[in-house]
Formats: sequence, C-alpha cells, structure tokens
Amino acid sequence: MSKSVSPQGLAWFLDARFGMFIHWGLYSILGRGEWVMHLERIPPEDYRPLMQQFNPVHFDAEAWVRLAADAGQKYMVITSRHHDGFSMYDTALSEYKVTNSPFGRDPIDELANACARHGGVKLGFYISLLDWQHPAYRFRAESGLAWSDYLEFLHGQVRELCTRYGEIACTWFDGDWPRQPFDASNAYFAPGGPFEYEKLYDMIHTLQPDAVVINNRHADPLSGEDLQGFELDLPGENTSGFNTGSISALPLEVCMTINDSWGYRHDDRNYKSSRYLVHLLVRSASVGANFLLNVGPTADGEIPAVQACRLRNVGMWLKLNGGAVYGTRAGAIPPTASTVSTRREDVHYVHTLAHTSDCVELIGVPQTVQQACLLRDGTPLALERHNGAFRVTIPEEARDPFDTVIELR
Ligand code: GLC
Repeated sequence: MSKSVSPQGLAWFLDARFGMFIHWGLYSILGRGEWVMHLERIPPEDYRPLMQQFNPVHFDAEAWVRLAADAGQKYMVITSRHHDGFSMYDTALSEYKVTNSPFGRDPIDELANACARHGGVKLGFYISLLDWQHPAYRFRAESGLAWSDYLEFLHGQVRELCTRYGEIACTWFDGDWPRQPFDASNAYFAPGGPFEYEKLYDMIHTLQPDAVVINNRHADPLSGEDLQGFELDLPGENTSGFNTGSISALPLEVCMTINDSWGYRHDDRNYKSSRYLVHLLVRSASVGANFLLNVGPTADGEIPAVQACRLRNVGMWLKLNGGAVYGTRAGAIPPTASTVSTRREDVHYVHTLAHTSDCVELIGVPQTVQQACLLRDGTPLALERHNGAFRVTIPEEARDPFDTVIELR
C-alpha cells in the first residue's frame, strides 16, 4: 500500500500549474452561494425539494472542457458533493443525487468522458467531509444511525469516485470542522468522529496511484496528504483568515474565487480583472504553488459569460507565455516590488507585473545568466550588471499589458 501519490503523478500535477475549480449543485438554483442552506437556516425538508427543480438543460461537458483548455487549465476539480449533501453524480449510496432530478444525467460521467476525449485536461473531485443532510451525520440521535454509518457512506463515495471515472487528477477534501463543541442551535456542525484519514488516503493511493490527495482544511497536512492548500491566499500572505502563516515542506496549491463567491451568486459582480488573475497565477507559480481558479456555473448548466471571458483572456496570455508557468518550479531570483520569478532548471523567467520605467532592476540573479530575451517572441533584451545589481531594458513597445516575461539564460 503506498502512502502518497506516485512521483510521476505528483510531477504531472505540479507541471500542470493551473486548474479549474467548479462549484455546482442545488445551491446554484437559489443563486446565493453554496452556503445558502446553512446561512439561511433552511431545514433539509425544505431544501431537498430543490432536487425536483434541477434541470441544467444547457450543460455541455465538451464546452466546459474546451473552455478549461482555452484558459490553459490542465485539470478541473468539481464538487462531487458539497456540504448540502447532494451528490452531483450517480452514486449508489444515496437517493439524493443528480440522476434522480429531472435532469436525470450524470454530469461527472459526461465530464470524465469529455476529458478523456480531449486528452489535455484531467478531472478531479471536491469531496465534502461534512454533510448537512445525511441522517448519519447530522441526525444520528433521531435516526438511530452511528458515526460508523456515515464513515461507510463517505469512504464508499470516495471509492466510487476512484473507480468509476477513469484516471483522476486529485481528490480534494473540504469541511473538516466536525469536532467543534456542540451547539444545538448550529446543528450544521453537529459533532462527528474521526474521518479515519489513514484508511481513506490509503484507499485513494491504492486505487489511483497517480492522484494527488489534498485536504484544504489542514494547515499542517497529515500523513497521506500530498499537497498543502491555501484558500483565497498566496502562501504565507495569510490575508484571508482561512490559513495560518505556516507553509509546510509539501508542494502547494492556491484556490481562488473569480469574483467573491464559490457557488453561483447572481448578485456578485465583483470580478477580478484578467490581468489580476494572471498575476495571481504567476505569483502562485513563483512560490511553487498551483493555482485553482473557481467558476460557479448557473442552474442552467452554463459557466457565466463574464467568467468564461476572463478565463479565455488568461488563456491568451498563456499561449504566448505558458513556458514561464507550466513545468516550472518556485523562482530562484528574489521578488521585487514589481517582479516575481519562476524557473525551469537553469532558465529563469522574470515576470514583470508593473513598469515604472524601461528598466527592470533585479538582485540575486545567478552569475551563470548571460542573456535576456522576451519569452513571447525571443526578442533579445539589453542587460547590464553592476555592483551586484542586474538591469534589463524592456522598451515600452515590447511590454505585455498583463505580465511581460523576460527569459534569462
Ligand atoms: C470554503 C467554503 C466552501 C468552499 C471552499 C473552497 O471552505 O466553506 O464552501 O467549497 O471554501 O475552498
């Protein structure tokens, strides 16, 4: 039994650098985010009937996978079941699932097939550890069920996800908050027991040796977790309040909203600019982190046009500059106020995120560096070294509006 992802699985995942996160479920019908059931204290008996309304007639798995590919994303992580407990695939372990909605189809199966046909995008699964409607999670006292019944369900679902949809990129866990002091008015966080992670992760690593295990709630990753996740934050910045300042020795992944929401919110128009999204992507890469950027499809099955448009803009930049992102590792040249760097062995990429003059001043550039050019088209750039400082000149005409990448060899 292997205790972690295979070296080639991990290398693939890190080389991929950019993924699409998808929050999609019954909550998309209400359009007030994926926490709506909890935040508005909707009892399960009032929330469950949303299943009878779920009919995303515009859902087109091919189009989603094509969009991810156009954006330059190499994997997608979709909510197989969020905290509301509704399974977005044809699970055998619950009747509360997408195939029992008027839609009647398994969108995850369709995405898996579209990914397999496309070839350039792998599928991964978000899995909620807590469940606001499962009788063995939230209503054990009334239902006479035991914690072990919930564990059987949870582990059983993970087994389904690891055996039915071909080779997957990752399992992505969220919602490890079950053991807070019990507060009867807040049954959404009903206390549970241990998730038996060791057993869970061993199963994943055995069934899917190349899949990465992420548990986004663990600032100190447990044994069997292959990556440390950062929510709405660049590693170490610790501005979102979701993370601690600690950065483990594991590889990293940043997950980020495209506006201010995960699940679709019809009133959220606070979209990040395409330029800022590129900056978040390259700043993540510069510290060795993947960037998992969320979209929130509507109940009709569409990724909102504004979200698709931002993704395509990032993709256009990546078409010319992807060499400074894919397959790179954390930069060796220290960041400055306006630059960060990535590297592939002895080739260094300096990402210029802002320009105040034609010159980019760097420090700590390895002595081996002799040449500078624009990554985009190979145009040679003038460089000078003096007193330990390093200066590259980028004429205004050569600049990229998002991020001008200088290749140093
Ligand atoms: C937070 C939210 C959850 C969302 C997740 C994505 O944990 O509670 O709804 O799925 O972030 O990282």
